[in-house]
Amino acid sequence: MANLVLDLTQTAPFICPEEWKAIEPQAVAAAKLLDSRRGLGADFLGWLDLPVKYSRSELRRIKAAAQRIQQESQVLVVIGIGGSYLGARAAIEFCLPTPILPSFRNSEKEPLFVCFAGNHLSGVYLQQLLDALDERAFSVNVVSKSGTTLEPAVAFRFFRQKLEERYGREGARRRIYATTDRSRGALRALADREGYETFVVPDDVGGRFSVLTAVGLLPMAAAGVDVDALLQGAADARAHYRSPSLESNDALRYAAVRNILYRKGKLIEMLIGYEPRLFYFAEWWKQLFGESEGKDGKGIFPTTAQYTTDLHALGQYVQDGRRHLFETLIDVVSSYPDPVLPAVEDDFDGLNYLAGKTMGFINEQARRGTAEAHVAGGVPNIRIVVPEATPYYLGQLFYFFEKSCALSGYLLGVNPFDQPGVEAYKKNMFRLLRAQLS
Ligand code: PA5
Repeated sequence: MANLVLDLTQTAPFICPEEWKAIEPQAVAAAKLLDSRRGLGADFLGWLDLPVKYSRSELRRIKAAAQRIQQESQVLVVIGIGGSYLGARAAIEFCLPTPILPSFRNSEKEPLFVCFAGNHLSGVYLQQLLDALDERAFSVNVVSKSGTTLEPAVAFRFFRQKLEERYGREGARRRIYATTDRSRGALRALADREGYETFVVPDDVGGRFSVLTAVGLLPMAAAGVDVDALLQGAADARAHYRSPSLESNDALRYAAVRNILYRKGKLIEMLIGYEPRLFYFAEWWKQLFGESEGKDGKGIFPTTAQYTTDLHALGQYVQDGRRHLFETLIDVVSSYPDPVLPAVEDDFDGLNYLAGKTMGFINEQARRGTAEAHVAGGVPNIRIVVPEATPYYLGQLFYFFEKSCALSGYLLGVNPFDQPGVEAYKKNMFRLLRAQLS
């Protein structure tokens, strides 16, 4: 199988060979530190080996549960926030893009619809989803490593209640799948008490690095994503991105180039793609890097854009605004049937010169033209080519970014595996909630 390609040609005008030379020993040291498992946050390195060490019996249980969910339900509601839902959502959207027109199952052939809740506190969304479930058979996968996060906890109350009203307590128990800590937290206690089927988030895997555990794999398998292929892609990436050499390890090169750009004042990284199927992958990436790097007053600010859509929103800024950003493109080669532009007799829009060309061709020229313009405008461009939009290559991508994120954190001198800053809003929110009620 091919590998992802890291194309740095369009960063070359911004980085001189001396800068690469200067970062090399630091990059090598970061790679060795990660490999030695003695760096900051070393208790949270379980994700490094998940593709090859993930429990086979847990995987079998995941597949069996996925099958049962498909048989019993039209909808699976996945409740979780941050690392507890973004990987699954990214994978489902990437591998099986959501139909553009909503269609719930009305024949045996329609696949299970996976939807998400508990990733914000909107009552409107919650009510809409609860109403939509009135006529549909559904199951719930509640995902929370800590088992105490407010957003999923409140959402779960509603869906548990709805399940119990519909199917009775016993029936509800059969339809609730809990993914949580092995032994701690309120969700673990409830799941044990009620006898829900449970899946474990390993102690040494943090939320945003958990996509290759049941956190990601159960919803993916239920949706019909080939999780074996995904894990194989990740396993091949694990083997491929091991070396501590800048020459041969693209995950390390990506971490290094980001760091060089950051030191030169490029404080914002925009992950861009030209395919809507990448939207939630970009969200997953944003959370991975944002929570891992943004601390101690340091870090690249990760943001995302979907082109060409956002060229009509952010394009002006990217081209001409403050020169503190760079772009990283995920360039996916798609094998989906590609519509061919028809010729029209009156050529009313003057586009007949493009007749017979595919949308892929037109999109590709937009990509090339944009990169050229942005680079000329002072925006370095990193390009990662994904040979095919398949679960296998998504597995490679997940692992590539997890590895480069850890390396980036070490290069920056922060602990990439904690998130102390997330506690600040929670403290205030709980203080306010309690104060309003006392
Ligand atoms: O990466 C992280 O650790 C976080 O984004 C968590 O995944 C998120 O806060 C949800 O936490 P929990 O799974 O404990 O509900």
